[in-house]
Amino acid sequence: MGTAVSHMNSIKTVSVCGLGKLGACIAATLAARGFEVVGVDIDREKVTKINEGLAPVDEPLLAETIRAGRSRLRATVDPRETVATDAAFFIPPSPSLPDGSFSNEFLLKAMQPVAKAMKDAGKKNHLFVCSSTTTPGAMDAVLIPMLERELGGICGRDFSVCYNPEFIALGDVINGLLEPDLVLIGESDPKSGAALEQLYKKYNRNSPRIARMSIVSAELTKISLNSYITMKISFTNQLRLIAARHPHADIHAILDALGNDSRIGKKYLRAGLSYGGPCFPRDNRLLAYTARKVGLEAPLAEASDRVNERTKEDLVERVQAMARPGDMVAVLGVTYKPNTHITEEAAGLFLAQQLKRRGYRVLVHDFAATPANAPSLHEFELISNWEAFKRNPGVKLAVICCPWAQYRDLPPTAETRVFTPWQL
Ligand SMILES: NC(=O)c1ccc[n+]([C@@H]2O[C@H](COP(=O)([O-])OP(=O)(O)OC[C@H]3O[C@@H](n4cnc5c(N)ncnc54)[C@H](O)[C@@H]3O)[C@@H](O)[C@H]2O)c1
Repeated sequence: MGTAVSHMNSIKTVSVCGLGKLGACIAATLAARGFEVVGVDIDREKVTKINEGLAPVDEPLLAETIRAGRSRLRATVDPRETVATDAAFFIPPSPSLPDGSFSNEFLLKAMQPVAKAMKDAGKKNHLFVCSSTTTPGAMDAVLIPMLERELGGICGRDFSVCYNPEFIALGDVINGLLEPDLVLIGESDPKSGAALEQLYKKYNRNSPRIARMSIVSAELTKISLNSYITMKISFTNQLRLIAARHPHADIHAILDALGNDSRIGKKYLRAGLSYGGPCFPRDNRLLAYTARKVGLEAPLAEASDRVNERTKEDLVERVQAMARPGDMVAVLGVTYKPNTHITEEAAGLFLAQQLKRRGYRVLVHDFAATPANAPSLHEFELISNWEAFKRNPGVKLAVICCPWAQYRDLPPTAETRVFTPWQL
């Protein structure tokens, strides 16, 4: 490798390519924290919303954050506008493929026109920051070679690349971005990593650990973190299944006691349901794929996935023990967690679908998911008035599948049994 890129001491202007659930929040928070930001998306509606000062996706605090940084934030569909910025962040989708790996297609399509614009403008030393989750090895084997071809230069000498995924939870993205436990930077060269570290020192409201490493190390770290959490959740669920076969065992007492050991800790030791959403299940499966690619197995990752599937089926079995086909059952909460409308791999959606297939009459309720933002709900009859339902449920069984706080005050009645796996 030649001399490391010598530009970037300070990143002042950034572009953010991909203004979805994560990218819109990154763009808005960067602007609110004082950076000049150009957002780029192929979706004109999102671009227009940002330029009107409106949130392009549903996320708490996003609209306020956009307003706070409005004078420094604008959006465009033209990737050439990235040329005038010091660094470009890329956050398009990276959907899972059937083998468990993540597709590079959207990242390639987002990065290529930016690289071409840099080349056409004769700009050297640009910093490309990838925030989308990638298959470990994809940056070095696929994305950086594409950039080297497009730019006609060498990564680490003529331009730089950082892999910089965020550890956020939907529904709390803004606070998660600004006050993370960890900032993870995989760097093609020390100067670009240092420049990104400096950006985070201005951007974060707290002082998180900033971990810098090689790009592939950061790719492995990103999915390992989620895989570890899924392992902990599946351990909890495995224990709950075992305890359930012992009539005098109290899973809540067991988990509460275990969590006092500081080596274990209380987080995710709460008897609940399966994990779901757009990150945990697929990041864990990606770790198993990554092991297979190098001739290994990842039995822990595979077991977490199996226990999770078993946990979903167990919920269906528990409900079947409380109501018969033909009975009316209300499934309350079909998102994978509160404060989001995402129903992907959610326990409640799975339960509703399974009950309907098995001949139950299913009513569905959620505080955020609707058929418009979660099309899987089209097949269900919905409870549209929660307060009226609460007063007079009129169902045999109500199952709380997502711990929205509002479900806490649903009283059982003579007619309606309320089942909650969480002891809400
Ligand atoms: N949502 C999460 O909770 C979360 C958490 C951690 C990591 N991630 C990762 O972040 C990435 C993005 O996730 P998301 O949930 O924000 O996705 P999303 O689908 O909500 O948003 C992606 C955006 O990228 C835009 N886009 C697609 N192709 C483009 C292109 N060529 N140029 C510019 N923009 C383009 C889309 O129009 C869309 O607005 C994924 O890799 C995901 O794994 C997401």
